Amino acid sequence: MVIIVFGVSGCGKSTIGQLLADQLNMPFHDADFYHPPANVAKMSNGEPLSDHDRIPWLEILTSNIRDWDKDGGAVLACSALKENYRAMLSSSGNVSWVYLAGSYKTIRERLIKRRKHFMNPRLLDSQFEILEEPDYGIRIDIDSSPHLIVKEIMDRLHQEKVQFGIIGMGVMGKNLALNLAEKGETVSIYNRHVAGSEEGVAQAVSDQHSELPLQPFDDLEKFVQGLESPRVIMLMIPAGKAVDMQIEQLEPLLSKGDVIVDGGNSFFKDSERRAMELKEKGLHFLPMGISGGEEGARKGPSLMPGGTAEGYNHLKTYLEKIAALDKKGKACITHVGTGGAGHFVKMVHNSIEYAEMQLLAEIYSLMHQGWGFGPERIADILEDWAGYGLNSYLLEITVCILRKKDGEEFLLDKILDQAEQKGTGGWSVNVALEYGVPYGPLAEAVMARNISARKPQREKLAKKIAFKPDPGFVFDEKPEILRNAFAMVSLINHTVGFDLIKTVSDEHDWGIDLSETARIWTNGCIIRSALMEDLVDVFKENSSLLEAKQSLELFGKSQHDLAFVVTQAIESGHAIPVISSALNYYLSSITASSSANLIQAQRDFFGAHTYQRTDKERGTYFHTDWQAND
Ligand code: 6PG
Repeated sequence: MVIIVFGVSGCGKSTIGQLLADQLNMPFHDADFYHPPANVAKMSNGEPLSDHDRIPWLEILTSNIRDWDKDGGAVLACSALKENYRAMLSSSGNVSWVYLAGSYKTIRERLIKRRKHFMNPRLLDSQFEILEEPDYGIRIDIDSSPHLIVKEIMDRLHQEKVQFGIIGMGVMGKNLALNLAEKGETVSIYNRHVAGSEEGVAQAVSDQHSELPLQPFDDLEKFVQGLESPRVIMLMIPAGKAVDMQIEQLEPLLSKGDVIVDGGNSFFKDSERRAMELKEKGLHFLPMGISGGEEGARKGPSLMPGGTAEGYNHLKTYLEKIAALDKKGKACITHVGTGGAGHFVKMVHNSIEYAEMQLLAEIYSLMHQGWGFGPERIADILEDWAGYGLNSYLLEITVCILRKKDGEEFLLDKILDQAEQKGTGGWSVNVALEYGVPYGPLAEAVMARNISARKPQREKLAKKIAFKPDPGFVFDEKPEILRNAFAMVSLINHTVGFDLIKTVSDEHDWGIDLSETARIWTNGCIIRSALMEDLVDVFKENSSLLEAKQSLELFGKSQHDLAFVVTQAIESGHAIPVISSALNYYLSSITASSSANLIQAQRDFFGAHTYQRTDKERGTYFHTDWQAND
């Protein structure tokens, strides 16, 4: 942190700044010594500096503040009389303001005594004229002795309120708090008190990490009161009713301009409603998708905030500190769009996540059940695929899972095959239906979890129906066929997900940038991958992934392999819902003349729903009495 001690010339900022720096064991800098010579000459001649004169000086200081902040902090004595100068200075680092306030008379007397200094006492009038007193930071009256002033500043610095609070010390909330505190921010943490099950939770987190600046609470009122306005409060609690209940408890304790961030996996329409309701009360609501699980939260997640741009600006600097970094060192965070856009994008992220997980599960099943390969051999093959530009976080963890032993056996072989879910995948399917977006492969990933959950029924039927495939599963000689199919399905999964983002964003006028969305998904999140890296550039030139040059090349190379895998696998009795649906999606998408003419005719037959004709102008509708004699 850089502490800027400021006020008009003669207020004592150099003396106080130096003493304060000694107390804090930090370097001291005097902004006066960073003035270009032309400014020094002007001031010595009694000429006031213009805003124009101050710009190069402020730029030098701003860049130094950035470095001092990175190097562990400093104390700077600087006049910083106007709000726009202060805004410029605080833009480059973590700045704390200490304003030395004194009357014109006191300061004039001091200045007259200070003959060695280049500041001409006549300039004092002009300084008081432009002085804009702040309503933030620490304000100290300069009437007492320097040592007492420094003592007061030290006391006030220690009690200075924190701005950022996190509610909910579950896995994600706790790790985000630790991540932010590790970056030097003091974080207030709150967890409710539930007798017998949630007692002293925040205190325990703080005790376990006593080296970090965490302020624990289990009293909501005290937690809110301890936060500086505008307060930033992040909810890390389960989605649904809990969020509404928490907001209801918070609202009466908050002030206009405060920001509530919902970092859970809330349904975006709920988030839109909450944003509207809170806007009417003068509060900012920021629905924010967070991906990366426990490790991401602690070391760097991918962050997808929505809500108002103003609300986002209040917490941008905090969030940029905790987010993962992309390849170019830029934080994996962007203001996705207004309203519920952040949660919407996270929902689609999860939908792609479901499909990519299911794709890997189907590939594993083909190799395991079809070829009889053991987990380690499958792990070797998948590891090899990573070298073909198919690497991803999900592929990496799958390799790890496949190799994990439980005693002499593989742990995976002992895990019950019933997949659970918390709803985001299903919400995406509903939304795709609502907006008319073809969503087969991603929907199938949800259905696959649903059917997996019916374990008893599956077991019962498996005993009754023994499906013996003939011919066998024949492409074991050529795992590259499976690899090509895998690459194509993965691309189709992403095509489908990004198509939903584009369609809904256009409808809501959210202006979601697909390339930027791919960028913030290149690190920190669960679906980070080599493909995602490519998509950052692909979406700069194409809005439809299906039509992109790179996709057409991959399709040209892999479509026959995908068709071969699907036919062979199905014929051999393997359920491959995502892989086969991806092929159907692809074939349907590239078919210029489909069979929907028959659907239209059937609709018109039984319901007089009308149809358009290929031999007439589009937009004109016809009805036929299908049973009339010609
Ligand atoms: C992430 C994950 C995370 C969570 C899933 C799990 O991006 O970090 O998506 O949000 O692990 O929501 O969802 P299911 O329980 O529905 O599989």
